[in-house]
Amino acid sequence: MYLPEIDFLNYNDLPGILRLNAGASYAWPEEVIRQDLGQDSNNETTYIGAFATTAEAPLLGYAVLGREKRAGILMWLLVDSRHQRQGIGTQLLLAVSDCALYLNMRILRLRVRKSNKGAIALYSGLSFRRERVRQGYYSNGDDAIVMSANLPLRPGQ
Ligand SMILES: CC(C)(COP(=O)(O)OP(=O)(O)OC[C@H]1O[C@@H](n2cnc3c(N)ncnc32)[C@H](O)[C@@H]1OP(=O)(O)O)[C@@H](O)C(=O)NCCC(=O)NCCS
Repeated sequence: MYLPEIDFLNYNDLPGILRLNAGASYAWPEEVIRQDLGQDSNNETTYIGAFATTAEAPLLGYAVLGREKRAGILMWLLVDSRHQRQGIGTQLLLAVSDCALYLNMRILRLRVRKSNKGAIALYSGLSFRRERVRQGYYSNGDDAIVMSANLPLRPGQ
């Protein structure tokens, strides 16, 4: 397990976010990130990052929390492929859970590719349950599984 420094992200973290995105098969779109973190942001989304505790403190992963009435939406989650399976995704999700509770959200919902077994395993281990399947949801025709969890997230359930 690796204990990163967890913190909110802002526009200054854009290079680190884009560096992570460049190494990923799917990435949260750059124009959306620029809009969300820019001066004209409507502040509807919260970006939370995990930083290495070395002197350069590179960004190792990030999560994006959106909202829909009283439900939180996990818009995106990404961990550097060289640092996966070290508990960073879990710690980011627990930070998202704390943040969503603070914002008076009671439920966290997400969509994940049906083929993304690793992410589904991560979410299932943090008390997310399958709600339904959205067929052909992604642009390449992949199905999405909608999952939700009551907050706070509970590891090991
Ligand atoms: C999914 C992702 C965020 C997981 O991050 P992570 O930091 O590796 O997750 P953790 O180390 O906290 O994993 C916790 C548990 O989740 C499960 N898990 C995570 N990745 C897994 C994988 N690839 N295969 C199987 N189980 C996995 C395991 O049970 C793991 O515990 P273990 O390592 O003790 O067995 C990461 O693989 C990633 O960034 N993937 C690419 C982007 C993506 O798919 N994002 C999700 C979009 S919905």
